[in-house]
Amino acid sequence: MMAHPDHMRIDGDAVRGDFPFFAYAEQESPALVYLDNAATTQRPACVLDAVNDFYICHNANIHRGIHRMAEEATAAYEQARADVCSFINAASVSEIIFTRGTTESINLVACSYAGPILGGGCDILLTQMEHHSNLVPWQMLARHNNLRLRFVPVLPDGCLDMDRLDIELRACPGLLALAHVSNVTGCVNPIREIVALAHHHGVPVLVDGAQAVPHLAVDVRELGCDFYAFSAHKMLGPTGVGVLYGREALLAEMPPFLGGGEMIHAVTLDGFTCNELPHKFEAGTPNIAGVIGFGAALAYLKQIGLDAIRAHLAELTGYAWDALSGVEGVRVPWRLSPECGIVSFYMDEVHPHDVAQVADDLRVAIRAGHMCAQPLITAFDLPSVCRASMYLYNTASDIDRLIEALQAARRYFT
Ligand code: ALA
Repeated sequence: MMAHPDHMRIDGDAVRGDFPFFAYAEQESPALVYLDNAATTQRPACVLDAVNDFYICHNANIHRGIHRMAEEATAAYEQARADVCSFINAASVSEIIFTRGTTESINLVACSYAGPILGGGCDILLTQMEHHSNLVPWQMLARHNNLRLRFVPVLPDGCLDMDRLDIELRACPGLLALAHVSNVTGCVNPIREIVALAHHHGVPVLVDGAQAVPHLAVDVRELGCDFYAFSAHKMLGPTGVGVLYGREALLAEMPPFLGGGEMIHAVTLDGFTCNELPHKFEAGTPNIAGVIGFGAALAYLKQIGLDAIRAHLAELTGYAWDALSGVEGVRVPWRLSPECGIVSFYMDEVHPHDVAQVADDLRVAIRAGHMCAQPLITAFDLPSVCRASMYLYNTASDIDRLIEALQAARRYFT
């Protein structure tokens, strides 16, 4: 094995002490190595405690009751909204809508923003690197509203073809929707530059930030985007919680997404009037405990520091890359982007599912398949790939275990 980097900015072993999952996983021999963080991360004790504490001590519905617990629950939920607002530097809490995840956030924009204003013959511009959450909602809308979808291709190195993007934007599509960071290649798109170009042509921009917010210091006002979507569970928070950031001027004009309690101001048998932002878009009882747990995750991430996490992952990805290059038959079909800890690869003569199965037998969890981004994988003429995705608690020893697993897969299948 290669020498481990001795100056990692985060001590992955120490950080693991904050995560009950690892205490559990380390009871087994060998201990589980978790390298599927782009799919979902593990949760620190402070997040689990916040969820538990809510159910034990403060469980009540929000924005409705006038009893003390309802007020406590409402205050904790709204504090989490303020924490999200500050984490991404939105201008106001009115711009932060809680959803079930990135997928629901994008569906909300498709139904409530694009659906009512984009009609027959209009184009929506996407890219070839989108995962299904930022593709299928637009396909559904295109079918319903008779729209055309156009796609900016990726170059052989996995980056977006910026010349083609420029050309496509000149045709003034009704909306550009694209990933900040690819969940397959880890490529980081230059969103600020792209938004400026799109706005120059009068094109609004939705950014799918599911793989970006856990790693990069996202400032929505600096990026200038119109909508930005992300999920709590990819950044140490609970599942079933996501965020849609939208510029207040746009959200104010949009009709509600779902109807029911909470999103109304007044209701008669003949109709209803809408609640104010952001409640207009939060029909029904939300995932209160999950949102409060997300607030705890943000506090934990702030304490560790996104800069430290990014530096840690850049070092770890570099170490992984060097180690993978030494395994016979391993290929990375695009340029490696180290910032977000994503390394996708395949192995000559061994199917990715077989690689992942052997790794699992050796207690190393990686993902194999089309990564919910089938068009991108197909564009590279691959049936599927393997993906190792890292986060703050991973260490160089985890990568060593991955390499041992890949070598075992090679021995077994060739
Ligand atoms: N989009 C998620 C992933 O990349 C599910 O694994």
